[in-house]
Parts: sequence; C-alpha cells; structure tokens
Amino acid sequence: MEEKKNIILCGFMATGKSSVGQRLAAMLGRDFVDLDSWIESEAGMPIPRIFSTLGEPAFRALEVRMVERVAERTGCVVAAGGGAIVNPKNLEALKRSGIVITLTADPETILSRVGTGDDRPLLRGEGKAERIRLLMAQRNEAYAKADMIVDTSSMSIEEVARHILSRLEERAGSQVAG
Ligand code: S3P
Repeated sequence: MEEKKNIILCGFMATGKSSVGQRLAAMLGRDFVDLDSWIESEAGMPIPRIFSTLGEPAFRALEVRMVERVAERTGCVVAAGGGAIVNPKNLEALKRSGIVITLTADPETILSRVGTGDDRPLLRGEGKAERIRLLMAQRNEAYAKADMIVDTSSMSIEEVARHILSRLEERAGSQVAG
C-alpha cells in the first residue's frame, strides 16, 4: 500500500464515490474527505443553491480551490464530485497527491440510482437519461485518465470497497494495507 498517498475516488454522479469512500476509509482507518461537502462549507450553502445563485462557473472555481486544499493533505480517502477531473488542472493536482480511481456504472444503473435528481443540478428535471448519456460521452476521456478504473454497476458498496482494497494491495506488491 502506498501509505501516505491519498486515495481519490472520481467518476460520474451516482457511481458510489461517497459511500465507497466512507467504507474504504473505515477499512483503512483513514480520514474521509467529501470534496462536495468542503465546497458547501466554503460557500455556506448547498450545491443546488450554489448552481442557482452563483452559477456553475463559480461552483467550478470553488471546486478547483478545494482540490488544491485536499491535495496538500496526505493519507486521506477523498470522494471528488463527478465533474472534478474533467478539468485537467484538478486531475493533475489529485494525481500528484495520490492514486486516482474512477468508479463507473452503465447509464441505466446511474439513472436508477439518481431518483428525482433534485440534489444534482446537472440532472434536474426532464430528459435525465439523455443528459446522462451526453455528459458521460463528454467526460469518458477524462475519466479514463485515472490510475485505476472500477465498474460498480453490479457490485455492492462493500464489494467495491473490497475490490479496490485488493487492487491497491496488488499494486503495492502485497504489502499490508494501511
Ligand atoms: C457534479 C457532480 C456532483 C456535484 C455537482 C456537479 C458533476 O457530485 O459535484 O452537482 O459535474 O458531475 P456527485 O458526483 O457526488 O453527484
């Protein structure tokens, strides 16, 4: 295990980044950081309100700042928002701080997981299936630049966390996790 490096979970909305991240952090005895929560604290408002009152560019600027902040930390498990690594600057900072893992899921699975989508400004309202497909197509190239890719479509949170752990251990040549 690459001990001091952060473990950063990226990938499309509803691929399980926060749930898996929390589980992984508990398994490893590490701190868990949810970047979207940092953004909300910094802005003093929830993400849908950041989008509706300040606009997406302001949200992305806050995201860059929080990425820079977390990249200064070590030994954390981090869940990044679905758009974070689309910005090459964010991907670069996160890669410098640790191992970047993309969680994926097929569009049908995403659709079934997002529900009303009210807490996700980019998926609000009608035409979710089409928007998911479009956004995914735009972002897949960025997601593919991660150090590891895990398809979560048919796995539970526990299974994804265990799968990641064993792949990290393989990478580290079977050293003890921690
Ligand atoms: C976004 C994903 C959201 C959140 C914001 C923008 C995106 O995070 O950062 O609504 O651009 O894909 P989750 O991936 O945790 O839903």
